[in-house]
Amino acid sequence: MANRNAENREAGGKRIDAATGTETVGHEWDGIEELDTPMPRWWLWTLYLTIVWGIAYVILYPAWPLIDRATVGVLEWSSRGELAEDMRLADLETQTFREQLAAIDVVKLQDNPELLRQAIAGGRAAFQINCSQCHGSGAAGSQTLGYPNLNDDAWLWGGDLKSIHYTIEHGIRQPTENEERQSIMPPFEGVFEAAQLEALVGHVQSLGNDQASHPVGAQLYADNCASCHGPSGQGSRELGAPNLSDAIWLRGGSAAEIRAQILNPKMGVMPGWKERLDEATVKMLTAYVWSLGGGERISEDAADPAVRTDVEP
Ligand code: HEC
Ligand code: HEC
Repeated sequence: MANRNAENREAGGKRIDAATGTETVGHEWDGIEELDTPMPRWWLWTLYLTIVWGIAYVILYPAWPLIDRATVGVLEWSSRGELAEDMRLADLETQTFREQLAAIDVVKLQDNPELLRQAIAGGRAAFQINCSQCHGSGAAGSQTLGYPNLNDDAWLWGGDLKSIHYTIEHGIRQPTENEERQSIMPPFEGVFEAAQLEALVGHVQSLGNDQASHPVGAQLYADNCASCHGPSGQGSRELGAPNLSDAIWLRGGSAAEIRAQILNPKMGVMPGWKERLDEATVKMLTAYVWSLGGGERISEDAADPAVRTDVEP
């Protein structure tokens, strides 16, 4: 090539450029010619590689779109398949978690932070579905309707894992259940004279503070109410009788509301969930409600109801 002369044009107007020794493409625009510089090697090889890669890809993976799906590659991989596999693994994890939860004594959850954490998360979701229509989505309850607030640490029937579990499983005042969670406050309509009733209401309102109330009210209380609500109004979890000495009211703390409750008591009723929900879900709900109410602990021995220590005398 080097000995070729710059004027040595081939047919088609191509010639060898003297300065670079490279052939021109043969066109000329106003004396400007284009050199036919060969592609760099690395570029060519990259191009060949991408072609090979493209062919391999089409063979191995789904590539050509058909009417309802793409061609199946020989690897039989698909994004749907990958998702299904992920879901299978997640299901397996949930499955072991549910089995673990169903098998564990509910009281042991208080010492198993990992399981407890998962249970609380599951319970929060189950609560929205099964419980929020009465207790509210934030579990704050309703005083007008007698749905207790589950966020405070004041409990009618007990706030440890064992008691909450029992309440959720068996419900409250269900005719089909045994004698637990059944107690009823008797109506006192016609029992007291007007003045007595006012003294009694005054005494109930004074239970929370140190002021001595009227001795008549105190006496009527001791005779008629202390057996369930306790001598100083602390309540009884065995009977689901509310604490009357805290500032927390299930049915309202005004004189009118207390009077109405004495004369014609309203009794809260809650369905049991043992038949409707599986054991793992009931335990998740238990963990969630327990965590809302401050997580009252119970000693391991007390897991046996015979030696429960959580119930107030
Ligand atoms: C139909 C309405 C209703 C539904 C649904 C309901 N509850 Fe209740 N729940 C009540 C009432 C009413 C009470 C108060 C009963 C009483 O006065 O003793 C109560 C009480 C409770 C208590 C006892 C609180 C304490 O202070 O001891 C717990 C715990 C509880 N509910 C949890 C649940 C959970 C968990 C669910 C969902 C699985 C649920 N409830 C669904 C009406 C309901
Ligand atoms: C047999 C047991 C029993 C006796 C006796 C009893 N109560 Fe009750 N009382 C209850 C129960 C149980 C409740 C809870 C009602 C509910 O869960 O809906 C209650 C609720 C109340 C409430 C509503 C508390 C709140 O937080 O809103 C008041 C007030 C009350 N009682 C006052 C009295 C007074 C005053 C007497 C005596 C004249 C009395 N009770 C006698 C069992 C009893």
